[in-house]
Amino acid sequence: TTVLIIWAVVGYLMGSIPYGILLTRVMGLGNLRDIGSGNIGATNVLRTGSKKAAALTLLLDAAKGAVAILLARMIAAEDAVQVAALFAMLGHCYPVWLRFQGGKGVATFLGIMLALAWPVGIGCCILWLLAAAITRVSSMGGLAAASGSTILLVVLGYGYALLLGIALTIILYVRHRSNIIRIKAGTEPKIGQKG
Ligand code: G3P
Repeated sequence: TTVLIIWAVVGYLMGSIPYGILLTRVMGLGNLRDIGSGNIGATNVLRTGSKKAAALTLLLDAAKGAVAILLARMIAAEDAVQVAALFAMLGHCYPVWLRFQGGKGVATFLGIMLALAWPVGIGCCILWLLAAAITRVSSMGGLAAASGSTILLVVLGYGYALLLGIALTIILYVRHRSNIIRIKAGTEPKIGQKG
């Protein structure tokens, strides 16, 4: 268990780095909390008008989930890999540095899936792209990707990670509560809209 606790801490610390906030600050794009949804993710960074900052945020938020997994996989056993993944997601969504008010977990979720089980990760990315292309709503992409992930894990032969997939999906859904309310009300902004 000591090993698992260490990987939980490592995963959490990696996940908790708020790249969106750091990048927008460094690039002089204003306070992300005052923009759009106030979220720290790539979708909201795009509302600053900087595609470059948004792309970098997406990449780094995905990378922290992926790197946590790859690091654990290099050094430790499978249970440590899954613990590192779960805590990277928790770190991103509930970072102590932001009084536990973090992101919504889509990029980190995709990074985790790509590193954990790449065919599932690619399937999730395709689901994101499809749902986002059809609806033009970013949160719909994230919700679709998460919803499909559990089925993909089972169908593509990664059933051993099903519980992790379910846990990550629940976290992602909980973090999208306000988006789900707006989607139902028909007021969720389209991608790039200020919102
Ligand atoms: O990646 C988060 C996305 O699904 C929703 O972001 O800023 O529109 O709430 P936002």
